[in-house]
Amino acid sequence: MNKKTKLIMFLTFILFLFSGVHYLAMADDHKEKKWYQKKADHDDDHSHKDKHRKRKRERNTDDEHHENNLRQVNNPVYKEECGACHYVYQPELLPSASWAKILESLDDHFGDAVELGNDEKKAILDYLMTHSAEKSSSKRAIKIMRSLGNQVPLRITDIDYIRKKHHEISSDVLKRKSIGSLSNCSACHTTAESGIYDDDDVRIPQ
Ligand code: HEC
Ligand code: HEC
Repeated sequence: MNKKTKLIMFLTFILFLFSGVHYLAMADDHKEKKWYQKKADHDDDHSHKDKHRKRKRERNTDDEHHENNLRQVNNPVYKEECGACHYVYQPELLPSASWAKILESLDDHFGDAVELGNDEKKAILDYLMTHSAEKSSSKRAIKIMRSLGNQVPLRITDIDYIRKKHHEISSDVLKRKSIGSLSNCSACHTTAESGIYDDDDVRIPQ
């Protein structure tokens, strides 16, 4: 071997060594990066999931709230005519068959006579029929329908589900001047007019 060949071999060896070390370093670097990345990704994933879960939780309670609530009465004719003597019941509290029966018998409405013009009567019937319990997706209305079966009550307070929810209230309490009867929903349900009947919002007046 002459000097030239030795030098080339030596240089080749150095180059080989260098590239090998370089390769290993790169691989290590790569691995490390990956590890960091993974950790970062994981953290990201975690916080993302947490955020998602939190958002979902918020949305759920919101939904639950909405799902339970009834739609606020927004028909002015119904409000005026049917709110003259008592609390204005949301149409979702009774099935359409009940509303039809009530409007057919207004000359003897629980002992009172309710007089209505034909136009008003039609407007009210339309409103009640389109928003009745069986057409509602509210959990409250679904429970009412489930509790009714084939019954067509004239009173919300005759629905089993409603009666059961109030069976602990004594008749003495209901007879209080500030209440009158169980039909007076808004006497105890402070948010009744907004369609919210959660037990958290009940205050029984003295
Ligand atoms: C002249 C007064 C008067 C008017 C107007 C009136 N109501 Fe009544 N309503 C009554 C009385 C009295 C009761 C029985 C309340 C009780 O038992 O405490 C009653 C009860 C009800 C009930 C049953 C409540 C329960 O116990 O579940 C419904 C439903 C009802 N009315 C719907 C209507 C509708 C719909 C209209 C409009 C078309 C209307 N009311 C207009 C006097 C009236
Ligand atoms: C004398 C007061 C009073 C009156 C009047 C009254 N409620 Fe209630 N209501 C209560 C109380 C108290 C509860 C809670 C019962 C319980 O803790 O489970 C309740 C519970 C309910 C619930 C179940 C709530 C839940 O979160 O499970 C519904 C629905 C309801 N009432 C609807 C009505 C409707 C509709 C009327 C009118 C037709 C009415 N209430 C009249 C006192 C009243």
